Parts: sequence; structure tokens; C-alpha cells
Amino acid sequence: MLAHIAVASLLFAPLVTAQVDIVAGATWTDTSGNVIQAHGGGFLKVGSTFYWFGEDKTLNSTLFKAVSCYTSTDLATWTRQSDALSPISGTMISTSNVVERPKVLFNAKNSEYVMWFHSDTSNYGAAMVGVATAKSPCGPYAYKGSFKPLGADSRDMGLFEDDNQTAYLLYASDNNQNFKITQLDSNYYNVTTEASVLNGATLEAPGMVKKNGQYYLFASHTSGWDPNPNKFFVSSSLSGPWSAQADIAPEATRTYFSQNNFDMLLGSNAIYMGDRWREDVLGSSRYVWYPLDWSSGSPQIVHADVWKLDINAGTYSVVQGMTYEAESGTLSGNATILSDSSFSGSKAVGYLGNGGTVTLNNVQGLGKSQWVALYYANGDSTWRNTTISVNGGSIVLVDQPDTGGGHVILSVPVKLNLQQGTNRITFASNENYYAGDLDKIIVYPS
Ligand SMILES: *[C@@H]1O[C@H](CO)[C@@H](O)[C@H](O)[C@H]1NC(C)=O
Ligand SMILES: *[C@@H]1O[C@H](CO)[C@@H](O)[C@H](O)[C@H]1NC(C)=O
Ligand SMILES: *[C@@H]1O[C@H](CO)[C@@H](O)[C@H](O)[C@H]1NC(C)=O
Ligand SMILES: *[C@@H]1O[C@H](CO)[C@@H](O)[C@H](O)[C@H]1NC(C)=O
Ligand SMILES: *[C@@H]1O[C@H](CO)[C@@H](O)[C@H](O)[C@H]1NC(C)=O
Repeated sequence: MLAHIAVASLLFAPLVTAQVDIVAGATWTDTSGNVIQAHGGGFLKVGSTFYWFGEDKTLNSTLFKAVSCYTSTDLATWTRQSDALSPISGTMISTSNVVERPKVLFNAKNSEYVMWFHSDTSNYGAAMVGVATAKSPCGPYAYKGSFKPLGADSRDMGLFEDDNQTAYLLYASDNNQNFKITQLDSNYYNVTTEASVLNGATLEAPGMVKKNGQYYLFASHTSGWDPNPNKFFVSSSLSGPWSAQADIAPEATRTYFSQNNFDMLLGSNAIYMGDRWREDVLGSSRYVWYPLDWSSGSPQIVHADVWKLDINAGTYSVVQGMTYEAESGTLSGNATILSDSSFSGSKAVGYLGNGGTVTLNNVQGLGKSQWVALYYANGDSTWRNTTISVNGGSIVLVDQPDTGGGHVILSVPVKLNLQQGTNRITFASNENYYAGDLDKIIVYPS
């Protein structure tokens, strides 16, 4: 019987597609239907399984609850396993301390999984790294301790393992002023010697990939929980010299409102994995993943509301949708057409809310639940939201992060039930608020 099953899977394997939809900024749930809590995450592949380690921010607090562990074979379908690391009272990983950006490597010499994380006190004054070990990927991990690498600060950090089984700590040091890359010992328990120091670089949130013998470092700058334009640096050696910083996305978008947490090779390209932090409700922070494409010669984020990923084939493709301009809709109340060259068609609809609405009357649907991206501007320093009603149905509320200026356009996704053929979609806001200025929507087939 077993033999038959094996033969059957071999026969069917090539027919099974590993293509999955990735929708940046959507609410990602696990196979139990719970929101994925794995912020500031790190990834490790063991056999055909991917492990996602991250901060469980269910309590909406910066304080330590757990390092979660999720498993997947396609990077989209995630199953939560037992927590990898749990609080221990009276230590630097108690529930009154901070454990962030967990990253795990497999140490082949000891046949052991080694987790490193940013270990800190609640006011981020301790600036340490923590180390924990386990014999299986999800652990549970045994905490070894927290320390300052080579006696210096370490806050945001990542790990990088070179192809000769030498690993490095990437970290924001010296009060986040200098960024350091320091080699680990052969056990991966401690640091040994500095490979590089990027003096005055003020970098956070690092990640690294090696491609064609070149090391690419990705990092944000320092702006608290607010996003900023993340950068890349390239060198043929971990000892440098490193190139001058360069953008991975148009600066005004502030990396599409995200901060790097990990970068994973994908064929001849990579995946940018970021966090869209929401400081006032940390557990509602979202994941923002995009293709990082090298076809221009340097890594650039491909902005795609919906994209298909086949991690095993190492490929991605951008899903195309149908665009509807907001200004082509029917306005009511205080809603007004705004003109500016930054808007698609140079127009958008503003003053949605406080009685103002816009209705798009001719949105073609496929008779199913479909992704719709709302392109909008929100020049406030705080988040807005918009209400959506499809064919007069119940209200869906969509959060609209600030876009960093009234003429900077970002998109947020929402899944809407569209009927086959023509749909009528009304955008407004709760009576007392204004929604973001709506530029256009794009309706996707999946
Ligand atoms: C965290 O915030 C979310 C969103 O406001 C809320 O639903 C949830 O109850 C909060 N969790 C806790 C533990 O307060
Ligand atoms: C791997 O390469 C780096 C950089 O050349 C070197 O410093 C390190 O010692 C090497 N590790 C081993 C185990 O050979
Ligand atoms: C790490 O190595 C340094 C020497 O480079 C040593 O002083 C320190 O005690 C070590 N830390 C741990 C946790 O082993
Ligand atoms: C326009 O907005 C104001 C509040 O700013 C509100 O008092 C008024 O009723 C609105 N007008 C309409 C037609 O909804
Ligand atoms: C919607 O946005 C307004 C600010 O425009 C905010 O006051 C309100 O709390 C938000 N509503 C929700 C449910 O987040």
C-alpha cells in the first residue's frame, strides 16, 4: 500500500502547482483561522518545510509573550506549532522584558538549532542579544542567556550564514549609530571578531542574501515604529567595502509603509519580507512581502497588490487586475473631486465621510470573493479608514495607514464578495471621520 502511495505522489507531483497568492498588507491567518502572530520574523528551511519564527503580539504590547513557530511548504499556508520560546520569570526573557526579531540557524557541527534575538528591558536600555538552543526546529528552545556582543549595544539584529558554514550577527550597535557585522563562533553561541562596521549608518531591521558572490545587506533607518525608505548595500566581502546605500523602492512610499525583517532568495531574485507596524495596536501589525527583483541590475521591490509565488520553482508573477478611477463614480454629500498630478488620471475623490460618498456603479465581478486594492492618499500623521458597501450590503471597514503626504499614494487590499457581472460599490467613512482620498481601485481575479 505504502509503495502505491509513493508511486502515486511521484506521478502526481509535477501536476500539483505550488503557486500561491501573496497579498501584502492583508490580514494573514493560519490553518486554524487565527491571525498570524509572527512579527519581526525569521525563516529557516529544513527539508521541504519552512519555519517562521516571530514575535507574538496578541497582547498589543512590546513586552514578551512568546516566540511563535509556524510551518509551511509553500510560504502561504501556515500552521501554528507550539511556541519556540516562552517567558521565564526572573530572567531577561520575563514578561516584563522585550524579545524581538528572533532568527534561527541550524548549526551543523552540533546538529543544533540556535536562536538569536534582540533581548532588552522595557525601555530598550539594556541593548543585548539573547541566545537559545533546541534539537528540533520549533524547539521549545532552552534559553542560554543575554549579553552585549563584544561589550557593545545590540538592538535590531539579524543573522546571516555564509555558504562555508560561518555565520554572522548583523546588528544596530552603539546606540543605533553604527551598524556591525560580527562573526559567530563555531557553536553559534557567541560572537568572535568584527567583519564590518558601517560607522554612522543608523541602520535597523537588517537582512542579508548572497547572490553571485555578492553580499546584499537590506536595512531600514531609524524612525521608531514609523516606516522609512529601506536601503540596500552591496559588497563582494563581508569585510566590505560596502557600496553607498541605495533605495529598494520609491522613497516617498517609505517602502510601501513597511520595515524589513527578512530577505529570502527566490530563484535569481528574492522576497522582501517586511512588517507594517501599527504602534497603537501592535497585534494588528501586518506583513508586507514583495518580490525583490534584480533584472535592473540591483534589487528593487516589485509593487504588486496580488502576486503569485512558487518558492520551489523560484519564480513569481504579478497578477493583473481591472482599474476603476474613483472620479468616474457618482459623488454625494461633501465628496469632492481633487486634482493633482500624483493621482491616476490626475484626479481623486476627497471628503469621503461626514456624509460624503462615492459609488462606482459598474465594477465587474466574477461571482466570488475577490481581492480589491484601494489606492488612496492620507496626509495625516495617523491612520484613517474607509467603509465599503457592495451592492448595498453590510459595511466592511478598511484601515488606511498614513501615506506620508496628501499626494503620496499607497494601496491597501480588501477581500470583497462580488457578484457575477456588474456591482455597485460605495465608499464612505463613519459619519464623524474622513476616509483617505480615493484615487482608484483595482479589482483582481483571485
Ligand atoms: C489587541 O487589539 C485588537 C484590535 O484592537 C483587539 O481586538 C484585541 O482585543 C487586543 N488584545 C488585547 C489583549 O487587548
Ligand atoms: C568562511 O569565509 C570567511 C570569509 O572568507 C572566513 O572568515 C571564515 O573563516 C570561513 N570559515 C571557514 C569555516 O572556513
Ligand atoms: C563571549 O565571548 C567573550 C569574549 O570574546 C566573553 O568575554 C564572553 O563571556 C562570552 N559570552 C558568553 C555568553 O559566552
Ligand atoms: C458636510 O460636512 C459637514 C461637517 O464637516 C456636515 O455638517 C454636513 O452635514 C455635510 N454635508 C452633507 C451634505 O452631508
Ligand atoms: C477610523 O479612523 C478614525 C480617524 O479618521 C479613527 O478615529 C477611528 O478610531 C477609526 N476607526 C477604527 C474602527 O479604527
